[in-house]
Amino acid sequence: MDNFMKEFKLSDENICLNHAGVSPWPLRTVKAVHAFAEENMLQGSTRYLQWLKVEDNLKKQAAELINAPSENDIALLKNTSEALSIVAYGLDWNQGDNVVSSDQEFPSNRIVWESLSSRGVQFRAADLSSADSPEDALFSLVDARTRLISISSVQYSTGLKMDLKRIGEFCRERGILFCVDAIQSIGAVRFDVREIHADFVMADGHKWMFGPEGLAIFYSRPDARKRLTLNQYGWHMVEAVGDFNQKSWEVAKTSRRFECGSPNMLCIHALNASLSLLLEAGPEHIEHEVLKRSDYIFHAVNTIPELELITPTESGRYAGIVTLRRVNTDNEVLYKHLMRNNILCAYRSGGIRLSPHFYTPYEVLDTVIEKILDY
Ligand SMILES: Cc1ncc(COP(=O)(O)O)c(C=O)c1O
Repeated sequence: MDNFMKEFKLSDENICLNHAGVSPWPLRTVKAVHAFAEENMLQGSTRYLQWLKVEDNLKKQAAELINAPSENDIALLKNTSEALSIVAYGLDWNQGDNVVSSDQEFPSNRIVWESLSSRGVQFRAADLSSADSPEDALFSLVDARTRLISISSVQYSTGLKMDLKRIGEFCRERGILFCVDAIQSIGAVRFDVREIHADFVMADGHKWMFGPEGLAIFYSRPDARKRLTLNQYGWHMVEAVGDFNQKSWEVAKTSRRFECGSPNMLCIHALNASLSLLLEAGPEHIEHEVLKRSDYIFHAVNTIPELELITPTESGRYAGIVTLRRVNTDNEVLYKHLMRNNILCAYRSGGIRLSPHFYTPYEVLDTVIEKILDY
């Protein structure tokens, strides 16, 4: 643990409880970017073949992190929204089909489905508090015309964690596709695409994975992948990549089919370094530490009458996001006050969203609670 602590070098005046927003980079990521930049300056692209190995290694690490059967099931895309759009505009919709999701989704996992109304597809957003469980709320909207359920693994605002295995099994039994926006899980808590029977999973690297913005991993199950019509084409997504003289071509069998042109090599070097830290620290250990920090804040809030929790505290229903509210207070003004004091957090669901990571010292959590009470 101590070894990893040394990699996080936020200056003393800054507190970062915003890993659900944009994370600070670990030292090894900074070094990887620095080395890559210097190499470009001094040697140009002479070691391009080595860079391709880094790209391959990144895919292998991403596959390991989410228990994908193969790195061939991973595509590197710009962001979560792009991956969702590839799914939404790849499927062969019929007038009257519907997509079931929730009313708590980040806009990326709503707008793209709503945009399909032009093709006669209905977007159904379940009120997750309307049934015995959030999953039951989703299932209550499913009918014979439901083609896909698309849900965030952890809701960005309330921090509610979904029972993905249950949803995945439900979908599989009914031949419904299952799409998971996992940006608020991967890197914070264990994530297993096979256990949850996911067809499509996407997550940008800049939150819990400690990567830069603008490089996302996109997992697709091979059979589900074949069902996506492609809407972007280029030299990089063909089977015989690099053979520029060949006039005939076919689409790559692997997930590379979603990567139409030149890869984002700079971000690839960065995210590759960041994922190596996550894998070395161990997803199980990280999850344990992340949940301990959530529990710590829960405990503090429960002992302070001025504070109340928005995030559910039931085991299995939360991950790394804890949203709390100070009662009888304008929490937006409180949020601005915290930010002015260099406490990086977010204003969500009418409260303060705190999202510490596995390395965050407990004293930092104490300081933030004190600052919230002092205000
Ligand atoms: C649940 C969720 N999905 C998606 C995004 C952003 O997606 P993108 O990678 O397209 O920027 C966020 C960002 O806050 C998010 O919380």
